[in-house]
Amino acid sequence: MSRKVRAVDLSWEQDTPLSTQHEDFYFSLKNGLDESNYVFLKANHLPRRFISGDLNQPFVIVETGFGTGLNFLAAWDVWSRLQEPKRPLHFISVEKYPLSKTDLKKCLDCWPQLAGLASQLIANYPDLTAGMHSVSFGVDAVTLSLLFGDVNEDLCLHEFLADCWFLDGFSPRKNPSMWTDQLFELVASHSNDATTLSTFTAASSVRKGLERAGFEVNKLPGFGAKREMITARLKGA
Ligand SMILES: C[S@@+](CC[C@H](N)C(=O)[O-])C[C@H]1O[C@@H](n2cnc3c(N)ncnc32)[C@H](O)[C@@H]1O
Repeated sequence: MSRKVRAVDLSWEQDTPLSTQHEDFYFSLKNGLDESNYVFLKANHLPRRFISGDLNQPFVIVETGFGTGLNFLAAWDVWSRLQEPKRPLHFISVEKYPLSKTDLKKCLDCWPQLAGLASQLIANYPDLTAGMHSVSFGVDAVTLSLLFGDVNEDLCLHEFLADCWFLDGFSPRKNPSMWTDQLFELVASHSNDATTLSTFTAASSVRKGLERAGFEVNKLPGFGAKREMITARLKGA
């Protein structure tokens, strides 16, 4: 029997979802979607890469921290606007403290421009049981593999090669147990020369951890009030 996972306790401050456990926001109501687009899509050269390389091979995005699914919907949205031919999209995401379906819906109601895709996600959101849940949308061209578990303990049990990484998760200061050397080594071992990575944080612990794991790290201007963010590729790539 699959182990049940308890839904996270979500609170709301000024109409914005907040994790009471990590005292950090899931997104900014003012510009959360623009931030996803800037930090994760643009920095990984998406959607351009969805139409390059072997078009028969899925483009694999791996994310740490599924949260409200906003990054998934942002990627699916830009992918859906591209004409064929394009690569199928496989989005793998890990979430240790999943939202209940009711909270997921309430969060995604903040983004009316994504309503069509959000309703499909909500309708197919898996039961909160530990392990990998795969859902396909639109004749299998978009697959979401959602792992309810800990990124450091459970992601290594699965086989995949990432085309790009979205390193999300609450800030390293508020959630240090996620941003470990073990995570950076896992990211490296599931990447190749063409894999890119981006994250909203430019914390030195993250930069140094990625460098120790074999990445060459670049700083970019951060989104909005954030001074810097980082992208990375394996050294010599
Ligand atoms: C800022 S939120 C992510 C927002 C999300 N990407 C979105 O699009 O809404 C950070 C997420 O990381 C999750 N998280 C934190 N530590 C984790 C861990 N060790 N393993 C897996 N998920 C974790 C949190 O529960 C939270 O949902």
